[in-house]
Amino acid sequence: MLGKMELTAPCHFGMEAVLKKEIFDLGYDVTKVSDGRVYFEGDAEAICYSNVFLRTAERVLINVGEFKAETFEELFQGTKAIEWENYIPEDAKFNVVKAASVKSKLFSPTDIQKIMKKAMVDRLGSYYQRTHFEETGIEFGIRVMINKDIVSVGLDTTGTSLHKRGYRLLTAKAPIAENLAAAIILLSPWKEDRILVDPFCGSGTFPIEAALIGANIAPGLNRKFASMEWKHLIDTKMWSDCKQDARERIIVPEKMDIQGYDLNPEMVEIARENARKAGVDQYIHFQARDVKDLSHHKKYGFIITNPPYGERLMDKDSVADIYKTLGERYKELDSWSMYMITSYPDAETSIGRKADKNRKIYNGMMKTYLYQFMGPKPPKRSEGER
Ligand SMILES: C[S@@+](CC[C@H](N)C(=O)[O-])C[C@H]1O[C@@H](n2cnc3c(N)ncnc32)[C@H](O)[C@@H]1O
Repeated sequence: MLGKMELTAPCHFGMEAVLKKEIFDLGYDVTKVSDGRVYFEGDAEAICYSNVFLRTAERVLINVGEFKAETFEELFQGTKAIEWENYIPEDAKFNVVKAASVKSKLFSPTDIQKIMKKAMVDRLGSYYQRTHFEETGIEFGIRVMINKDIVSVGLDTTGTSLHKRGYRLLTAKAPIAENLAAAIILLSPWKEDRILVDPFCGSGTFPIEAALIGANIAPGLNRKFASMEWKHLIDTKMWSDCKQDARERIIVPEKMDIQGYDLNPEMVEIARENARKAGVDQYIHFQARDVKDLSHHKKYGFIITNPPYGERLMDKDSVADIYKTLGERYKELDSWSMYMITSYPDAETSIGRKADKNRKIYNGMMKTYLYQFMGPKPPKRSEGER
């Protein structure tokens, strides 16, 4: 069984502070934050909790080794020095599934993968007294990052990325990753008693993630993780206790008003179906509607959205028109805040207002900006009022 370890959770570049807070709120000590990664301390139970509860992480890795390597020989020796036998049983399948290199002498992913696998076979071969492995058993994925010649070796506890919650079988043409959508919502001051509208909801990712947050439904409640199969390391009961705890934490918010609109009625159907799968359809009103009809009688709401980007979905003029219309509609919603993620370079000009804050975020390889237009804070509620 596993003792205390250093764990790493990669996330979207620019969202480290949000993930750090999530890990802290789960009760774990964050030891380091670097670009796109948060490091923390935890035991086997932390592997269960971080996989099931973290909304903004991409995966959770056990840091099994860190060493310097400028040559393949050093990479081989460094990998061989890791106590792989503490994790990997004799019949297991093991592979370096991902190798990335930044500003380092070693940079060929396939060569890095091959050398490391060879070193692991060498180490495990002498431990288990064999030269060949059938690899018919449970799976272990190794992910390695070489940054300025420092090799960080991670054992992947997650498997399929955490952004795949399992509810989004159908998507829009340019969907936003679920964990990035969650990070943007968590970055905003939105709480479940404030209105949230996504006028370009596509497959419904923002409304669904917001409803999951508002009802305190853990994002990983209904999915599997690679390390659930590692029964020699993590007791099966630990997983079932963690999921039971997640079920007990679900709340039924008294008041939660979330709305998703899209011009395309087929997208709206898809969004509805996805929300049903996520178990939050009762909290969201979806409807086919053009952004030009966006209006609301209530105050202090939030628009959180990802409008068409242009390069992927349509020609430049119609994109400019959409942002112009959004700007005009938003102007009428004078007490509202708007969080908008886009890679459209003229978004602020077309909207007709400069954002109060803006931060660069990578959505996969695409550079995007999150524009934050801040509305006023609502007046303090009087006693007993919600
Ligand atoms: C980038 S996608 C949104 C993706 C969404 N965030 C998701 O995760 O699936 C933009 C969406 O805007 C919709 N759209 C385009 N023009 C529109 C308009 N005038 N009014 C409302 N929606 C529009 C498209 O149908 C598309 O689904």
